[in-house]
Amino acid sequence: MNTVMEKMRATVFRGVNDIRVEEVARPRPGVGEAVIRVTLTTICGTDLHIVRGEYPVKPGLIIGHEPVGVVEEQGAGVTGYEIGDRVLVGAITPCGQCHACLSGHLSQCGHGQGYEAIGGWRFGNTINGAQAEYLLVPSAQANLASIPDGLTDEQVVLLSDIASTGFGGAESGGIRIGDSVVVFAQGPIGLCATAGAKLMGAALIIAVDGYENRLAMARRMGADVVLDYRQVDVVAEVKRVTGGGADVSIEALGTQQTFENALRSLRPGGTLSSLGVYSGKLQIPYDAFAAGLGDHQIVTTLCPGGKERMRRLMEVVRSHRVDFTPLLTHTVSLDEITEGYRIFGGQLDGVLKVAVKP
Ligand SMILES: NC(=O)c1ccc[n+]([C@@H]2O[C@H](COP(=O)([O-])OP(=O)(O)OC[C@H]3O[C@@H](n4cnc5c(N)ncnc54)[C@H](O)[C@@H]3O)[C@@H](O)[C@H]2O)c1
Ligand SMILES: [Zn+2]
Ligand SMILES: [Zn+2]
Repeated sequence: MNTVMEKMRATVFRGVNDIRVEEVARPRPGVGEAVIRVTLTTICGTDLHIVRGEYPVKPGLIIGHEPVGVVEEQGAGVTGYEIGDRVLVGAITPCGQCHACLSGHLSQCGHGQGYEAIGGWRFGNTINGAQAEYLLVPSAQANLASIPDGLTDEQVVLLSDIASTGFGGAESGGIRIGDSVVVFAQGPIGLCATAGAKLMGAALIIAVDGYENRLAMARRMGADVVLDYRQVDVVAEVKRVTGGGADVSIEALGTQQTFENALRSLRPGGTLSSLGVYSGKLQIPYDAFAAGLGDHQIVTTLCPGGKERMRRLMEVVRSHRVDFTPLLTHTVSLDEITEGYRIFGGQLDGVLKVAVKP
């Protein structure tokens, strides 16, 4: 075995508004782990929260959490994969064995010590992430999802996080066939929630954003009505077109305003499904809440992960129920990733998602 430490290039968080592509040690797998060579990844809105210092991570951490790659090396105890197999790995990597996982709350995986809030989110959060040439995958047996022949990296990369999250918001909202659904914000997450509402059988989908290109994409993903929040009174308009309020509203931004609008847009008995990452204080006005007597449900969802979730999402793509490749508007190499962050962070040039090729 080669004893010289092998190197790789990776995107390292050094401090607020300071990320750099650096040469670092290449990971080696321990028991139950695998190392993949990353062939495609992307940049998430949550990475922007990290870079801007709104979500703290340790300086020196490799960021990114949306990996597609090939198996490069496997640790002891990982079975059923060959070196070179193409795999998709979810952004959330449950261990499959802890109290939280075995209670069905995979995203809140506690790594063996019971529950841990957002414990299943490890890549680019508590362990090194995917915006690199190689990635160490923990609990590999539960997290390496083989990519079926015929699906390209581009067709599956967005399933790791944004599609799983957006669909998760639609699923947690309990959408029923024939429901009316409003989705607040049509960034990548909201667009996937719109697609999820369509797949779940909503009869009327209202999409809200302020960018024309995003509203146009919302129509492509299944929205029947699009509303520009800068132009219209969104709540009044939702109440008008739904005849009194939506059955389900999905929040896909993480602000007081969108949360409140999502609540105000609901009919009594409706469900608010929240996906945004909030900061500071979130307040619920008593009138929007019907003083606590509106039979509302408010649910939150952290992106579902694990290889079974990824398998299902790949089947949805393979069966042509949905196609997310139009969301990949830009492509950069790993060495150009800071430019990718600039475009994505500034919402420049009609960007939706930036593909990164290590
Ligand atoms: N729950 C999860 O597991 C999970 C996973 C990934 C990301 N997230 C979070 O989801 C959120 C959205 O991510 P994204 O990448 O889609 O964001 P984004 O920043 O790309 O998009 C946000 C969109 O919101 C629109 N917007 C702004 N103000 C609005 C308003 N008042 N009403 C309606 N729309 C408005 C903007 O025009 C923009 O298109 C972020 O907070 C991100 O951290 C959550
Ligand atoms: Zn993400
Ligand atoms: Zn677990």
